Amino acid sequence: MARELTQLELLTELQPVAEENVNRHISMAKEWHPHDYVPWDEGRNFAAMGGVDWDLEQSHLDEVARAAMITNLLTEDNLPSYHREIAENFSMDGAWGTWVGRWTAEENRHGIVMRDYLVVTRSVDPVALEQARMEHMTNGFASPAEVDAGLLHSVAYVTFQELATRVSHRNTGKACNDPIADRMLQRIAADENLHMIFYRNICAAAMDLAPDQALNAINLIVQNFQMPGAGMPNFRRNGVLMAKHGIYDLRQHLEEVIWPVLRKWNVFERNDFSAQGENTREDLAAFLEKLEGQVRKFEEQRDRLLAREAKLREQRAS
Ligand SMILES: [Fe+2]
Ligand SMILES: [Fe+2]
Repeated sequence: MARELTQLELLTELQPVAEENVNRHISMAKEWHPHDYVPWDEGRNFAAMGGVDWDLEQSHLDEVARAAMITNLLTEDNLPSYHREIAENFSMDGAWGTWVGRWTAEENRHGIVMRDYLVVTRSVDPVALEQARMEHMTNGFASPAEVDAGLLHSVAYVTFQELATRVSHRNTGKACNDPIADRMLQRIAADENLHMIFYRNICAAAMDLAPDQALNAINLIVQNFQMPGAGMPNFRRNGVLMAKHGIYDLRQHLEEVIWPVLRKWNVFERNDFSAQGENTREDLAAFLEKLEGQVRKFEEQRDRLLAREAKLREQRAS
């Protein structure tokens, strides 16, 4: 295997790619304003200002949509943690610094618009939401030690993560059954897609620059991937609800997130790996095959569970 590039060498070598992609991003990104996506005329005061406090009956979202909205919003809220991870692994100079600042500002916009929407429409309990935000942000986010290893791991992780949040926002929009929420989440999902493209392009360039080293990082990330919500209050419960109802499940993870990105990087077609890189690729292939098996098992279990629930509802109704 060729000598591993240092963090500084990677940053320097990839700087022109970062610059090109920041410029590309800025030329593609649309300016939009959170206030244009919130139905303000549905709003009214809470008890502290002479109105009425929140009650579940006021929410027009069902349990699944509420769980998905809260999970997605808490993820956006936890931005300072992600900013820290990215800022530590990227340089703050030149194009890298421009990107980190720009990306952070865009992500913050997502949290602003979603919270405004949820509070104005009384879709979720604002007190519980604030408590969950406090808890989640206080805990912060730290990537597991084995994947916390610098620039390549960071860009590989955020490539998959941006695409995962895009899928999750899109499907949450559909689950809300409200054209206003759907439009807002489509808007956010379009941003996430542009973010994903930035990181994916950096990673693609890293793959050409240091194939073995990049593949090693990608393999670790794919095998240890966790949605960013891990560690937030009720994450397991909400994650299960979201998977069960197709907001973000294992098949979507494999087919809409992992595979499209790996294909884009030509992971399984390229011939510039050393023997060690070839071994890593085989390890990755074996993992993906195992995951495919898990997908089928998960779907069988889910189908059985949904059928059982439907039958119960039928019995109760008759
Ligand atoms: Fe976001
Ligand atoms: Fe994003």
